[in-house]
Amino acid sequence: LYVLTGLGPDDHVYGLGMKTGRLDRRDQGYVMWNSDTFGAHEAKDPVYASIPFYLLTDASGAGVRGVFVDDPSDVIVDFGRTYAGKSFFSTANGQAGFYLFRAPRLRGVMADYQALTGTFPLPPAWALGYHQSAHTYFPAARVLEIAKTFRDKDIPCDALYLDIIHQDDYKPFTWNRQYFPDPPAMIRQLHDLGFRVLTIIDPGIKVDEDYRVFEEGREKGFFLRTDDGKLYANNIWPGYSAFPDFLQEKCRWWWAGWHDAYLRQGVDAFKNDMSEPATFNKTWSMLYHDEQTKMPGFLEEGTLDSNVVSRSREFGAVPPRVFHNAYGLYESLATWRAQEAYDDRRPFVLMRNTAASGQKSTYVWTGDTNSDWASLRLSLQMLLSLNLSGFPVSGADNGGFGGRCSAELYQRWTEFSAFSPFFRTHYYYVEQCLDKEPWAYGPEVEKVIARYIRLRYRLLPYFYTAAWRAREERAPLLRPMFYDWESAPPAYAAVDQYLWGPDFLVAPVLEPGAKGRFVWLPPGTWYDFWTGQQWTSMGESRYIQAPLDTIPVWVRAGRIVPTMTTGR
Ligand code: GLC
Repeated sequence: LYVLTGLGPDDHVYGLGMKTGRLDRRDQGYVMWNSDTFGAHEAKDPVYASIPFYLLTDASGAGVRGVFVDDPSDVIVDFGRTYAGKSFFSTANGQAGFYLFRAPRLRGVMADYQALTGTFPLPPAWALGYHQSAHTYFPAARVLEIAKTFRDKDIPCDALYLDIIHQDDYKPFTWNRQYFPDPPAMIRQLHDLGFRVLTIIDPGIKVDEDYRVFEEGREKGFFLRTDDGKLYANNIWPGYSAFPDFLQEKCRWWWAGWHDAYLRQGVDAFKNDMSEPATFNKTWSMLYHDEQTKMPGFLEEGTLDSNVVSRSREFGAVPPRVFHNAYGLYESLATWRAQEAYDDRRPFVLMRNTAASGQKSTYVWTGDTNSDWASLRLSLQMLLSLNLSGFPVSGADNGGFGGRCSAELYQRWTEFSAFSPFFRTHYYYVEQCLDKEPWAYGPEVEKVIARYIRLRYRLLPYFYTAAWRAREERAPLLRPMFYDWESAPPAYAAVDQYLWGPDFLVAPVLEPGAKGRFVWLPPGTWYDFWTGQQWTSMGESRYIQAPLDTIPVWVRAGRIVPTMTTGR
């Protein structure tokens, strides 16, 4: 399928979820292929998630168009990059379909797209608080020490994460008993301190005859096989591993059942990782079907080999090229169902890879960013784009995942994350990285970090209500300026600022050494959040002072902001 259409001279293009490059996709081209892209940077494509939905608007008021390519395979989309004034999408998947939308306003197209593919479920309230995570939170004593330090310092925090090191030899659904001799006792203590506990689950199941998950999955035929019927394995964290065939409903139920032991031990929710699916052996260099576009040539990231086949009663035999982008989505259905079937909690599943309709069972984080200013700017673009693509509850690893984060960047990034939908610090620990607990940079920085975490909690009633409204209205939670000011040209240029929920105007500082920045203040009356000063704007840009501990924020006149008190 190859669909070529005209691109109007003034058309802006938005959407595609978590993608790199400019928020306005015009003159850019992309491929849909979920990829494990450690240290993803501005020029990298593809990255973790693939959502082939985009919006076109020329801001004239003549109407907004939307396109959804209903296809989890390696769709290519191009907006004037290859052919001037033309946009196209193409796919080699013969079963693909597509939908066209049209509505007078952006919000109409977004609502119609979500009526078709689903709307995000309201997350549990704790999920909108602050979360603390690191690749290396072990052993149990260290996890408890971090939890107690939050409480001693009276810094609110709702969730702690246990990464792959909590497992025995990286085997999903096991515990490393040397580091975590008594998980239920540790989790009880964390619950008593008011924390939720999340564990990570990767899909790679170590090929090991003494490992029940592997043995059972093999016996029941729940792992992916090659086209000649052999069990397929590739190298990932635990070494050679088999991969569940999540397209089989029975396999999903089986997989969900493995979560029960965690849930009984007190685990509250899960992070699913590596289900692009990622592998360490980079064996598949796939040439694209569209030779004319020369994009992207081949894929360098490791994934399943091309001779793998998914065989399910529901879909028949499907090659990885077709199911690839939906693999994690089907896994998330199992993780979601495990929690739903267990008790009446609201499920929570955090993932970096997803596909269209994944919003019904996944909250997204933007993967392994670097601790640098370019990644902070990219994170804002990615979150705005995810919000325009049906994934409002999304966030970036606060401070960046890998690399040395300067104290200045850590503060500026935290100011931004406190006003983003999902607020979690997560980092990678290797020698060149620095710790990122709120107190890790000393008392002066701690004051600023704690101030923003506390502020987040003070505003939680407002933001929780905003999330509820976003769900009701199928609206974004991080709103680009043009969402509310569709006929104002400056709104399309002001992509480094946004609305947090419907009423907060936020202009994060995204440059090192900056003492302030220009902000486009939309027509109307605004209150400076910090000083209460009233600003009336005709829609002009102004230079705003922003010392290191201050992010410029305003509240719309005439709105009520419910707040709550927290500790200090
Ligand atoms: C991946 C994830 C990261 C996690 C790491 C180890 O890089 O993106 O969040 O900490 O794997 O599990």
